[in-house]
Amino acid sequence: MKKFYVTTAIYYVNAKPHIGHCSESISADALARYHRLKGEDVFFLTGTDEHGQKVAKAAFEAGKTPKEFVDSVVKPSLELWKLLAISYDDFIRTTDERHAEVVTFLLNDLHKKGELYESEYKGWYCSSCEAFWPKNQLEGNTCPECKRQLEEISETNWFFKLSKYQDWLVKYINEHPDFIKPGSRRNEILSFLSQPLQDLCISRPKSRLEWGITLPFSKDHVAYVWFDALVNYISGIGYLKDKQKFNKFWPADVHIVGKDIIRFHAVYWPIMLRAAGIELPNTVFAHGFWLIGKDAEKMSKSKGNVVDPFELINKYGPDPLRYFLLREVTYGLDGVYSEAALVSRLNTDLANDIGNLLNRTLTMIEKYYGGIIPAPAGTSLRSEDTMDDELKALAGGLAEKIDAAMAELDFAGALASIWELINRANKYIEVQAPWTLDKQGKKDRLSDVIYNLAEILRTVTIAVSPFIPASAEKMWEQIGMTEPLSGTRFPDIGKWGLVKPGTQIKKGAPLFPRIDTKAK
Ligand code: MSP
Repeated sequence: MKKFYVTTAIYYVNAKPHIGHCSESISADALARYHRLKGEDVFFLTGTDEHGQKVAKAAFEAGKTPKEFVDSVVKPSLELWKLLAISYDDFIRTTDERHAEVVTFLLNDLHKKGELYESEYKGWYCSSCEAFWPKNQLEGNTCPECKRQLEEISETNWFFKLSKYQDWLVKYINEHPDFIKPGSRRNEILSFLSQPLQDLCISRPKSRLEWGITLPFSKDHVAYVWFDALVNYISGIGYLKDKQKFNKFWPADVHIVGKDIIRFHAVYWPIMLRAAGIELPNTVFAHGFWLIGKDAEKMSKSKGNVVDPFELINKYGPDPLRYFLLREVTYGLDGVYSEAALVSRLNTDLANDIGNLLNRTLTMIEKYYGGIIPAPAGTSLRSEDTMDDELKALAGGLAEKIDAAMAELDFAGALASIWELINRANKYIEVQAPWTLDKQGKKDRLSDVIYNLAEILRTVTIAVSPFIPASAEKMWEQIGMTEPLSGTRFPDIGKWGLVKPGTQIKKGAPLFPRIDTKAK
């Protein structure tokens, strides 16, 4: 059985997740669900990044110890992931003992191998990004990332010999075109690597920060939060503790991360792994940002412009939010969020297109067949009308189109191809006009048209299930399918004739009620 291991970045717990974070978890979830549907053995890891200065500061401001603080703030994230049906297989917290053990082991291992050294360090530090910036990347004394004022700091620290791996990494990236995606990010990293790489400071003196994992060879230092955090990708699948699981799932197939943290994943992480003698992940995919407002600014807690996902879920339900975030932008690029755009997607793609296809088809099955899916009479075979064949061909080619899109994490592309079929099916209803066939007593043709529509609904439901899983479950129930949706497999998409004639449908309330925009 093929395995598939996907991860998200682990989220900082100093703030509640906003829809930018949701977007990352939703895309990893859609990918995991798609690979499960393909029959693969999937492991989907997510979690929280709980050490470091940001968290220590947030805890202090909340009047709590860091541990009390992280335990209290991890709960809303877990609730949110549940509401959004994020189907992770494990949730790693960097305060878990199982994680700290692996970090300690790696630090010791690299220390023994001579990869670490102690030195006096003087540099420009951003306490918000928790990063030192080399002089050659600075314009003035502000952080290139968040534009805050940098402080010049001098202290004794531990360093990791990144620089000696620079040539190796450049060669590796050149020889593995899939290692960093999309191509624009790969170019960005190669350009970054065209400058001399500085060794990485991997410790923080306890005099400045106590909240972290103590270096096993220096009790006065804790590990730099990024060195600690990156290790989650292996500690979360049992490195050291569960060899069988680790050997099965590592290397990761894809680390999904935002474009702001690509350098950590495409430079530091591969070098850490290489130095420790561990294989590299297959792909690091960097997505863009959700922006907001007329100036299209990055959504972030520090800018105070975040959109609360709980509110949106309360108002519209989880699947419209999932659908919007997956459909609205080409994955990898930035997207501009607005509630109006979300409502427009809901009303158009969900209520009008897929919702109408479902409601109209089920209403006709009730009206003409008392709620029982009819047996097709086979007029399609005799018909001059090529529309049946076109519809079947479109359904038959859908799986291949979804595969091609998902191989590139092109969620919007995969959804667009499903919607092409949905729109064609709605057109089919208009042209075939079952109400006229009924009036004219063309019973054979009517049964074929209705059966074809039931088949399209079955195909569409399976196809959308990785993206809008809760709605897909409801659709599956409404079209009367008795075997569980989770038991269906990807190749069932577009296979003709799997709907059993005689199936009793269970029409329910419309799944995607239109939002009245005039009333707002
Ligand atoms: N803790 C680190 C990651 C460590 S991974 C070993 C971190 N955490 S974060 O909470 O700040 O960000 C988590 C993820 O959310 C990152 O991939 C980041 O790019 C993503 N996003 C944060 N804001 C975002 C948007 N406005 N839009 C889309 N994604 C964004 O970085």
